[in-house]
Formats: sequence, C-alpha cells, structure tokens
Amino acid sequence: MSPFLVTRTLPEDATSAALRADVLHGLTGNPKTLPPKWFYDARGSELFERITELTEYYPTRAEREILIDRAAGIAAATGARTLVELGSGSSEKTRHLIDAFPGLKVYVPVDVSESALTQAGQALVAERPGLAVHALIADFTARLELPDTPGPRLVAFLGGTIGNLLPAERAEFLASVRALLSPGDALLLGTDLVKDEGVLVRAYDDAAGVTAAFNRNVLSVVNRELGADFEPDAFDHVALWDAEREWIEMRLRSRDAQTVKIPALDLAVEFAAGEELRTEVSAKFRQDGVRGELAAAGLELTHWWTDGGGRFALSLSVVP
Ligand SMILES: C[S@@+](CC[C@H](N)C(=O)[O-])C[C@H]1O[C@@H](n2cnc3c(N)ncnc32)[C@H](O)[C@@H]1O
Repeated sequence: MSPFLVTRTLPEDATSAALRADVLHGLTGNPKTLPPKWFYDARGSELFERITELTEYYPTRAEREILIDRAAGIAAATGARTLVELGSGSSEKTRHLIDAFPGLKVYVPVDVSESALTQAGQALVAERPGLAVHALIADFTARLELPDTPGPRLVAFLGGTIGNLLPAERAEFLASVRALLSPGDALLLGTDLVKDEGVLVRAYDDAAGVTAAFNRNVLSVVNRELGADFEPDAFDHVALWDAEREWIEMRLRSRDAQTVKIPALDLAVEFAAGEELRTEVSAKFRQDGVRGELAAAGLELTHWWTDGGGRFALSLSVVP
C-alpha cells in the first residue's frame, strides 16, 4: 500500500484557542456571528455528507457532472503530479480527478476535520496503489506550508466553499493561494452560480431538516468544547437570499429570550426573542466576478466550465 501521512500544522491547543477567540468575538458582536469552519466536527462532517445527497442540494451533483466531463481535459491542461485540495472533506468527487491524472504522484488533502481527512486518506491509499497521500490538518485561511512534492501542482478548491468567505477574506485567501503557486502550477476553483432564489433557498433549507441539524450542530460544538449550555432546539434554522450581496445566509433564530452561559470564556450571552445568529454566508458567483477576483490576486482564468443546467462552474487559472 502507498504511504499515508497526516501532519497537524497547528499545535493541539491552537484549535481551541482559535475557537475561543471566534466565539468571544462573534457572540459579543452585533449582529452575532460564528464562522462556518466550526460546523465540521465528526458529526458536522457526516451531516454535510448527507446534505450532498439531498434532492434539493444540487451543487455536489452539478460539480460532479463537470468533473466527470472535464477531468481528462484538466489533466491534459495542467500535467499535475501533485494535487492539493483545500477543504477536501470526504474527497468523494476528487476521485474523478485522481483517476484522470496519469502522472499524479501525491494527493495533499487539507481540512480542519481530522475525522474526514483520516477516513478519506485511508480509503484512497487502499484503493489507489502508487498514489501517496499526505493529509494536512490545517486552516486554509491561515498561512499554509505545503509538503515538498513533485510539480507541477494543481490546487483544487471545490464545493463552492470559497463562497463561505466574506469578500475581503476571499481576496486575502486568493492572494495566499497565488503565493503557493509557481509558474506551471494551476488553481481549480468550484463556484456556485447566481440563480433562481427558490432553488437557492431550498438547497439550504431541505424538507428533511438535515441542513437545520447541520446548522444547529455548531451550538453542540461550542457546548462540548467550551462547556456552554446552548439548547440547540431552542433555535430555528433560517436560510435567506440576500439579493444585493448575492449570497445565502444561514442563521439560527432564538425562539425566546434566553441567556446562554459559556464558562470557558466566563461569558453570559443574552439573546432577545427572535434574535438571529449568522452561522454561514454562501456567496454565489458570475463569471466576470470570478475572473476579476482571480485577476486581483494575480491569477489568469484560462478555462470556465459549467454543468448542463448552468448551475455551477469550475474554473482553471494559472500564474500569467
Ligand atoms: C462545504 S464542505 C465541502 C467539502 C468538499 N470539498 C466537497 O466539495 O464536497 C467544506 C469543507 O471545508 C472544510 N473547511 C471549512 N473551513 C475550513 C478552514 N478554514 N480550513 C480548512 N478546512 C475548512 C470543512 O471541514 C469541510 O470539509
């Protein structure tokens, strides 16, 4: 079997320090917010996988369709020998890329979810003899140190996860990705596209309530890690489309007035009846916007592919 390495790029206590800082900052702000990266403990990662199978959640199917159609072209255009994937999760769709790259030597999945990385990495080395997997437990918004692996490198960022970053965070993130690339390397970026409001809202508010459970799970993470006493069921799941900013927001709305204690922060947080806590932004894109944001980071968009329904896009960009 090929080697499977896992590297934690942050000390064990860095995660808990970052969670404390984010919760303190987010729950004492107005409006209250929490960053989406804290959804993804083992249960959150499992719930996200269930979301990808929902009828209403079209992005995974649309992106998979593009990958199946275009993987050979992406392989030919990049000739990558190392595939780095940011926010790789289960690496499920990535298999279509891996299978299409004849010269691929190393796969470097990067994620905050250790459980998702371990499961995906172990399965991949068992299935793909000759492919080395070097997983990084890391925050892709922090400065990444990639392992020394053969070039050219293709950095993939799939699932529309870039939409979870706010515009200023996206600019900083794309500039840091650009800094990881050498001439000959490329970025493969998955972006969900602006479309009918009803389709978008249903994708984040499914009939079976899986997305609602995923949304509330962030409160369970804060309870477990910081000893808080959130009652997740005392919050309603809300998904709405902001037409001006062209993004979906997921929120948790407090049904009644309540006080939540967070002993690890020595904090009591008051919620008014109906007050909302923003847990995720998911921006939707247009081709010109993506091209412009890539250009501002010093990258040139060379390919743009959409699924048959025009719902989702994959773009390839290079260092000019
Ligand atoms: C929306 S899911 C997408 C998963 C997969 N790429 C897909 O397309 O199905 C986002 C993934 O990014 C990871 N993630 C979120 N924020 C992160 C961060 N700041 N650093 C590293 N991984 C992060 C999550 O753990 C999760 O696996």
